[in-house]
Amino acid sequence: MKTASSFSVRPLVAALIAAACSLGAQAAAPNEPIQPIAPAKVTHPAMVELGKKLFFDPRLSRSGFISCNSCHNLGMGGSDNLKTSIGHNWQKGPINSPTVLNSSMNLAQFWDGRAKDLREQARGPIANPGEMAFTHELAVDMLASIPAYRAEFAKVFHQQPLTIGQVTDAIAAFEETLVTPHARFDRWLQGDSKALNADELAGYQLFKESGCVACHNGPAVGGNSFQKMGIVEPYKASVDAPGRSAVTGNDADRFNFKVPTLRNVELTYPYFHDGAADTLGQAVDTMGRLQLGRQFSEDENARIVAFLKTLTGEQPRIVLPVLPPSSDATPRPKPFDQ
Ligand code: HEC
Ligand code: HEC
Repeated sequence: MKTASSFSVRPLVAALIAAACSLGAQAAAPNEPIQPIAPAKVTHPAMVELGKKLFFDPRLSRSGFISCNSCHNLGMGGSDNLKTSIGHNWQKGPINSPTVLNSSMNLAQFWDGRAKDLREQARGPIANPGEMAFTHELAVDMLASIPAYRAEFAKVFHQQPLTIGQVTDAIAAFEETLVTPHARFDRWLQGDSKALNADELAGYQLFKESGCVACHNGPAVGGNSFQKMGIVEPYKASVDAPGRSAVTGNDADRFNFKVPTLRNVELTYPYFHDGAADTLGQAVDTMGRLQLGRQFSEDENARIVAFLKTLTGEQPRIVLPVLPPSSDATPRPKPFDQ
């Protein structure tokens, strides 16, 4: 693979920082490249409630055991804290599971951005043989066989029959509420100068000055561009994922990934698309060297990590939904089928 070390990244980084800073100019904290997260505005509570049920319902999987929450556990920052996820039949997943928290802010969904939004994304896992291993037809049949679901869909959508589009609309509506406002860092952005201590503030200065903000900026501190992993030094990934080029077919996009959000990053270990970095310290060290050609001292690394932990926001308060029982006509789960 061609390495990028033959050209200087500094002008690129400087230009990206300038762009990031001008983006921030219209927002609440005018001179900062990161903006506070706004609390979710719920416009359709009944749809959100239905989406929550679907998010937690393992009957959307062939095994009857795997739900969205299995791999995007809302008690664990919306991730599974595994290097790569476990799918149907204990299959080893090909890539690390990103958080669903604040995912509505992403410019596109998945590491390579192959789904344009949450609606399109939600079509993927149900029918993915390596994840929930179901089909959209079976999912719709299953839901339609349950009278309470049928009634709830009819009430929310004023339309029958029940469709997979309604399923993904409801799941997306629920996911749009999974935002994490009121992080300590946001309180600081909004003028509470005591919200951060000296180390955290020094970490933020380093984060800005060394160029992390070129890629990690905006309210989600990422999620708004595709960038190459391994700009100064190549990255040796432990999984085989081509990145953005799989979508564009353009070889120049090889190893470009959606820049992950750093909101709640304290909760979403392990890090990178292959989950190879177990700790935040390791992830920061790798980013410094591979993206910026900078080796942070132990103290600098610790300060950046301290800053990153201030990005943990208020987690969605989820009341576990009570799911309607299957009827006699509901197809039975097949947990041990190939
Ligand atoms: C078996 C584990 C597993 C299950 C079950 C699962 N996901 Fe995922 N999810 C993943 C993995 C792995 C990725 C990343 C895949 C990729 O980028 O190629 C992902 C990506 C996503 C993303 C994109 C986030 C981002 O930042 O790009 C969203 C949103 C999401 N899943 C929501 C859901 C929903 C909704 C369900 C249920 C319908 C679900 N997932 C079921 C493992 C899972
Ligand atoms: C040129 C763009 C770019 C720069 C500069 C950059 N990053 Fe990243 N960052 C990325 C990309 C792309 C990924 C995902 C890479 C992957 O998973 O293969 C990432 C991933 C991360 C992750 C892991 C997040 C997760 O959920 O897996 C952390 C933490 C991180 N960056 C912190 C930093 C810090 C700290 C700096 C500054 C020292 C920095 N980044 C500089 C583009 C960048």
